[in-house]
Amino acid sequence: TEKKTWSDRFEGTLHPSIVQFNASIGFDIELIEYDLTGSIAHAKMLAHTGIISPEEGQQIVTGLEQIRSEYRDGKFNPGIDQEDVHFAVERRLTELLGDVGKKLHTARSRNDQVGTDIRLYLRDQIDQIRSLLREFQKVLLSKAEEHIETMIPGYTHLQRAQPISLAHHLMAYFHMAQRDWERLGEIRGRTNISPLGSGALAGTTFPIDRHYSAALLHFDKPYDNSLDGVSDRDFAIEFLGASSLIMVHLSRLSEEVILWASHEFSFITLTDRCATGSSIMPQKKNPDVPELIRGKTGRVFGHLQGLLTLMKGLPLAYNKDLQEDKEAIFDSVKTVKVCLEAATILLSEGLVFRTQRLMQAVAEDFSNATDVADYLATKGVPFREAYNLVGKVVKTSLASGKLLKDLTLEEWQELHPAFEADIYHAIAPQQVVSARNSYGGTGFEQVKYAIELGKTLLNSD
Ligand code: ARG
Repeated sequence: TEKKTWSDRFEGTLHPSIVQFNASIGFDIELIEYDLTGSIAHAKMLAHTGIISPEEGQQIVTGLEQIRSEYRDGKFNPGIDQEDVHFAVERRLTELLGDVGKKLHTARSRNDQVGTDIRLYLRDQIDQIRSLLREFQKVLLSKAEEHIETMIPGYTHLQRAQPISLAHHLMAYFHMAQRDWERLGEIRGRTNISPLGSGALAGTTFPIDRHYSAALLHFDKPYDNSLDGVSDRDFAIEFLGASSLIMVHLSRLSEEVILWASHEFSFITLTDRCATGSSIMPQKKNPDVPELIRGKTGRVFGHLQGLLTLMKGLPLAYNKDLQEDKEAIFDSVKTVKVCLEAATILLSEGLVFRTQRLMQAVAEDFSNATDVADYLATKGVPFREAYNLVGKVVKTSLASGKLLKDLTLEEWQELHPAFEADIYHAIAPQQVVSARNSYGGTGFEQVKYAIELGKTLLNSD
């Protein structure tokens, strides 16, 4: 097997199983583009400060760019004996440049190097996830715009509570996604700090310029403490926390879609774009997409817990435990991205709201009972008294199989003399919804305003 980079200090050789156990090349190859970018900045800094000559700096940069092309052409495939992506790149560079290649690692350690790579990677992924969130929000907003006047039962305790505008329901998810987008923006700020130049843990004896390399990599600033620089993974935990919340939101939406698609609700029809059939039951059309999103949520929660646990007992500074951060981060990134994309497709072309059926649903229940109590309260009856009275009405109506709208004016007036003919208007679903015109409520005017506000939010990048 290959001679290890560090092997001159050692007498024997690694057990083959331990070579496997120790290696991260199988997954950290994912970081290669960021590793190359980070190394290029480091080499430029070394030349800029006179630690290496300008010619050496140029040769190293050219060599690293060549490795990038080789990788992109599928010609750079380091094996397990390379240990990790950092060693693999350095070794290839030395193959290409000889002794000059060996100068790249001056004033650097894999500890600040890997910290740099993972931050560059995550910064990039955060930007991508934020644009996916924007796409998701756009679909929610345009669906909401289509369904301002569509009414749907609103629930508490999964019991019909009060009818609402379907747009209002969808906009609730828009705002969750808005917070996700904002949260990731804040986390991006704490991710975008350069550990490069922290060295192994204590800084370096070379006259490096950390501000220079940080600026080349578009980091906002270097870490102020080298120990913290090499061992901080707060930004990654925050990212997994934010990702977990994204998944919570997608999973709640998925759960609703699954319920709505059931025969019992029948609020939506799944289109053939996102639904699948059963291998045995010919009548089935299954909501696999929302089920998968709901299911994948667990992975991201697990990775968050995993990384918290990984960090809690780590003494300063770098410990090899930190190598375990990568798969958690990579898998979470991939999961959040595919789920956001799938949820966006599901909403835009995977389901159709059955508006007739929704309208019928809100007309045929007691979700207007609050409005009868509000009606009496407006006429001077104390709300609690009105509430009790309507409770009795609901009880007797249920017993006689009637809805509130079916009561005659005489029946209403027997219950309370304050009832007049306008009670029928007050309890019609259209009126019930539009009357909730308080700020942030489901009243149609409010919903229209909320949609306009949503458009402004989308344009405020
Ligand atoms: N593969 C390692 C990681 O992912 C790189 C840093 C190794 N540093 C060390 N001192 N062993 O964390």
